[in-house]
Amino acid sequence: MSQTQAKHLKDYTAPHFTITHIDLNFILDGENTKVIATSKVKRTNEHQFDLVLEGEQLELESVKLNGKNHDYRRTDTSLTITTDLNEFELEIITALNPEANTSLEGLYMSDGAYCTQCEAEGFRRITYFLDRPDVLAIYNVRIEADKAAFPFLLSNGNQIEQGEMPRSGRHFVQWQDPFPKPSYLFALVAGDFDLLEDHFITQSGRDVKLQVFVDKGNLHKASHAMESLKKSMKWDEQRFDLEYDLDIYMIVAVDFFNMGAMENKGLNVFNTKYVLADKASATDEDYHGIESVVGHEYFHNWTGNRVTCRDWFQLSLKEGLTVFRDQEFSSDLGSRAVNRIQAVKVMKNQQFAEDAGPMSHPIRPESVIEMNNFYTVTVYNKGAEVIRMMHTILGEQGFQAGMKCYFERHDGQAVTCDDFVNAMESATGKDLQQFRRWYSQAGTPVVTVDESFDSSSGQYKLHLTQQVSSQGVKGQTLHIPFSIELLDDQGHSIVNQVLDFTQAKQEFVFDGFDAKPIASLLQDFSAPVKLQYTVEFDHLVHLMRFASSEVARWEASVQLFSQSVWDNVDHLAQHQSMAVDNRVLEAFRGVILNEQLDPALVAEILNVPSASSLIEQVDKVDLDLLQVAREFVIEEIASACEDELVARYRELNSFDTAEHRAFKNAALVLLSYVSQQHEGLVISQFEQSTNMTDTLAALKAATVGQFDCLTELLAQFEKQWHSTPLVMDKWFTLQATANNDDVIDQIVKLTQHSSFSFNNPNRVRSLIGSFVAGNTYQFHKKDGSGYEYLTQILIKLNKSNPQVASRMITPLIQFAKFDDTRQMLMKRSLETLKSLPDLSKDLFEKVTKALG
Ligand code: ARG
Ligand code: ZN
Repeated sequence: MSQTQAKHLKDYTAPHFTITHIDLNFILDGENTKVIATSKVKRTNEHQFDLVLEGEQLELESVKLNGKNHDYRRTDTSLTITTDLNEFELEIITALNPEANTSLEGLYMSDGAYCTQCEAEGFRRITYFLDRPDVLAIYNVRIEADKAAFPFLLSNGNQIEQGEMPRSGRHFVQWQDPFPKPSYLFALVAGDFDLLEDHFITQSGRDVKLQVFVDKGNLHKASHAMESLKKSMKWDEQRFDLEYDLDIYMIVAVDFFNMGAMENKGLNVFNTKYVLADKASATDEDYHGIESVVGHEYFHNWTGNRVTCRDWFQLSLKEGLTVFRDQEFSSDLGSRAVNRIQAVKVMKNQQFAEDAGPMSHPIRPESVIEMNNFYTVTVYNKGAEVIRMMHTILGEQGFQAGMKCYFERHDGQAVTCDDFVNAMESATGKDLQQFRRWYSQAGTPVVTVDESFDSSSGQYKLHLTQQVSSQGVKGQTLHIPFSIELLDDQGHSIVNQVLDFTQAKQEFVFDGFDAKPIASLLQDFSAPVKLQYTVEFDHLVHLMRFASSEVARWEASVQLFSQSVWDNVDHLAQHQSMAVDNRVLEAFRGVILNEQLDPALVAEILNVPSASSLIEQVDKVDLDLLQVAREFVIEEIASACEDELVARYRELNSFDTAEHRAFKNAALVLLSYVSQQHEGLVISQFEQSTNMTDTLAALKAATVGQFDCLTELLAQFEKQWHSTPLVMDKWFTLQATANNDDVIDQIVKLTQHSSFSFNNPNRVRSLIGSFVAGNTYQFHKKDGSGYEYLTQILIKLNKSNPQVASRMITPLIQFAKFDDTRQMLMKRSLETLKSLPDLSKDLFEKVTKALG
């Protein structure tokens, strides 16, 4: 499995051949599955290069060129054919065993159904092919299988034929996709499902059939996904003037899936987590996740499928842009502020950490060993921030003009990030030369802020300095859209604008103030940078009350909380007693009592920063002190506001909306920090709950408060939900994220549970992934037991599913902020992994980067 050579963006060359058409014939027959691939191959230049096709883990039966057996050379990963023809037909027959495919790439089985995942390089596990995104072919797919077991046979595009083979009990279906596409967008599904059907009339009046396929017995859980799909189609017409282009759109939900979902042309394959929902079994957060992922995959039809990537280094071309589009979709449909807060949290808590660690890369990476390792928060979420900055700089109109130009120029092509920025420039006349550096520079820029005020002239000056560097290498000055608001001491907004911050050091001058204004900087996170700016408590309290942006108010609350925690960490280090400033307590009380605020925003404020997000704010952390200080500050806030929390809790309990539930449940969790006294509230919420949001919040509160009722509530929950896998995932996560010293023993026990399987990524992530990423204190326990446990798990997953292993290793390679003992233990674990004889490319890339 080695071939651990990196590929480089600078080495890109156009393919020497292209494939314009491919006929695929799938004979689905368990371990004897066969694929007959017939391609029209064309030489693209005058040189006499050999044709080199990619292929992995394939059994090759035959190779025919223009109908005759032909010689070939083969390695573990390629098939080479020598010919002097410029155009020919190539028939390749391969044999596969989808039943043994636990990596869930290529053709595999999920709960008895065949399905595929080809992005990024999974098609080469189906047949030998030019498996690269700049080879676009028309696909004609025939699928044949047993009719009783696999009544639905699906592929991309339109169904053009079907038939029976009566004596064998088999049948077949023939599909044709009229749009040329790269191999990563190919999909096949065969199985028995419940089917929800609907339709959508496009803005030009075409009637599109919509189908959502779910596992038998789940039909009632498919309607939210269907509604989300129709909303996505409407929204893309209204906001982007983009219309769907085929007569049918299919979504299939499968429980065995490495990622969230996949935008295969006309046939999306989804993780069940992002399709199935009803009120009893799914939380409000699940509903929101479904809407956003359904939107995301739908929006790829234009940004990804109609215009695709030239090579995988350009992944952010489609992912950054499509995340931006799905964020805008969610923001137009729901609360813009809350959606923005969630996006900001992903950036600060996860992307900044990635960019400060050994896997730091620009949104357009320059070198890659395993492409699957680059479906990252950097490419996706920082990529979306880069698109958002262009949107800020160009405005909605300019941005839409740029999009229009992009599609006019590149529809049907495989292009680069530069092509996208060029279109934005051409359409608006705006110079984005300096802005482009965001694509090639890794690392989080640091912006240092100094202010001065001259009371005689009434002049306020803002001095900004930017430092850009990654892994010790200094970068070039960036074009940073820097949003600011200046408030007077009454809370009136005097200035509200976006500054073009383009120089290493730059000064901005504002006139006409009676007194020094209070600044809200980098409002709404207008650029993915870190701010170095010391702000006093009073200033933060002022912003929390008066900033016009709800995001800025939340941000101020985060800073207020964080500063209190760090102050107390200092106190502890100096053996002083801890205390929380009264202004902090008053600010939180003010938020709890303020009936003008959106309850969803209050919930965001009351869900105070996690330990891991606090760690992201500093260069070095003493985790043991942090834990004590953070818990102290929460307890102080909760007990100071206890009466108000109880009162609001009771009042909110009578509303039935997601916003009210969010506030109410944040209050309940805070109350569980105060004392066992609120156990009664928790039990009655659990018993009276009619929805999963409230049920789970009660369990969360019981876990946080370590209430006596917890064991009993968990047992009841298990009894009710043991046959619903996605709900059992929540039950696993609750237990894996409990801050108990015996949590690893508990997890080991749970891996024996009948609902658990190491072969299912949803289960592994909910139990083990949530422990390593969400149980900060226990995973990083000083005895190293957390690291050792993860290492054992990774050794196992390295063989069965390297992609899942590679995603879960993240907290182990981000060791730089921890003390020497922990760092040493983490590195020891990485050394153990490095010495594995069969280390996958996926883990190899991360482990070797981490060990330096
Ligand atoms: N393109 C898919 C999406 O955005 C993700 C597929 C990633 N697959 C992978 N094997 N890395 O939604
Ligand atoms: Zn995507």
